[in-house]
Amino acid sequence: MSFDDGVQATNNDATKCKYSAVKMGYWEDDFIHHFVSGFERKTPEINRGYYARTKGVSMFMDKFLKKTGSNCQIINLGAGFDTLYWRLKNRNLSVNNYVEIDFASVTSKKCYLIKRSKVLLDSISSQEGEVRITGPDLHGSDYHIIGTDLRNLAEIEKKVVQSGINFKTPTMFLTECVLVYMEPESSAFLLQWIAKKFDDAFFINYEQVNMGDTFGRIMLDNLRNRGCQLAGVERCLNLQTQIDRFINTGWESARSWDMNNIYEHLPDADKYRMERLEMLDELEILQQLLQHYCITIAWKGRTMADIDYL
Ligand SMILES: C[S@@+](CC[C@H](N)C(=O)[O-])C[C@H]1O[C@@H](n2cnc3c(N)ncnc32)[C@H](O)[C@@H]1O
Repeated sequence: MSFDDGVQATNNDATKCKYSAVKMGYWEDDFIHHFVSGFERKTPEINRGYYARTKGVSMFMDKFLKKTGSNCQIINLGAGFDTLYWRLKNRNLSVNNYVEIDFASVTSKKCYLIKRSKVLLDSISSQEGEVRITGPDLHGSDYHIIGTDLRNLAEIEKKVVQSGINFKTPTMFLTECVLVYMEPESSAFLLQWIAKKFDDAFFINYEQVNMGDTFGRIMLDNLRNRGCQLAGVERCLNLQTQIDRFINTGWESARSWDMNNIYEHLPDADKYRMERLEMLDELEILQQLLQHYCITIAWKGRTMADIDYL
């Protein structure tokens, strides 16, 4: 298995974990079942970790959508089988344009699964009345999937323009467990390209942090044994290295919180409901897990400059 094959396989893992949490009632997602075959129940700690991840990302995304009145674009980098496009539609929160990028082998499978499902296909709007799927790419009027390597910036630039992305419109970028798989130089080129091209941008990055301690090293060994290296781990040593990767690539400002901190700030009523779904044997294991993931946000331009973040 090549290094890139191992990275692509992480998408199956993420989808199965999200499906487990959804099936157990942690949050609603009416679309994820189209992207998995078979249910694998994960531990309560993993389900809660995914809850914090999904709700934490939504908390920041909702601030951006509110501020822009959804008059904006979203680019989901390394999107895998994420269902966010349909979940937003379900909440009547359609944005002007939504683009996903992942390796062609991953997007080809996603395109195939979308093509197979009338529900998924029907909610992709298209001016011409049909959605164009050509190999790893899909084009509707407000939803596009691009199959390419995030290290290939020339191809990305060409394809986002073809997908109708406007560099002047406020744009949110999302990376959930993606940059950590890229060499630090490659992810830096990507972040720099975005900061240079987009006038008004907001970035949400969810991934590992505190990877230098014992728990972090065990996580790394486990992943390595499953054929997956974290090539970008040196940017995940602490919250400051996460912030610095943005500040050093042309972003105006950045903040970062570990997931224990994010968890504390999630709405109490829903947390109360969620914490009763499954009992935890030891809270400490969850806290250790949450301490090794973080959300980092960064922005440039007007839209997100004066927001109260947490
Ligand atoms: C752990 S999965 C996460 C998927 C999705 N973001 C989620 O949270 O469900 C990581 C994803 O990043 C993609 N990825 C990593 N490096 C990439 C690269 N250089 N180019 C394109 N996609 C990449 C992988 O193919 C995979 O789908």
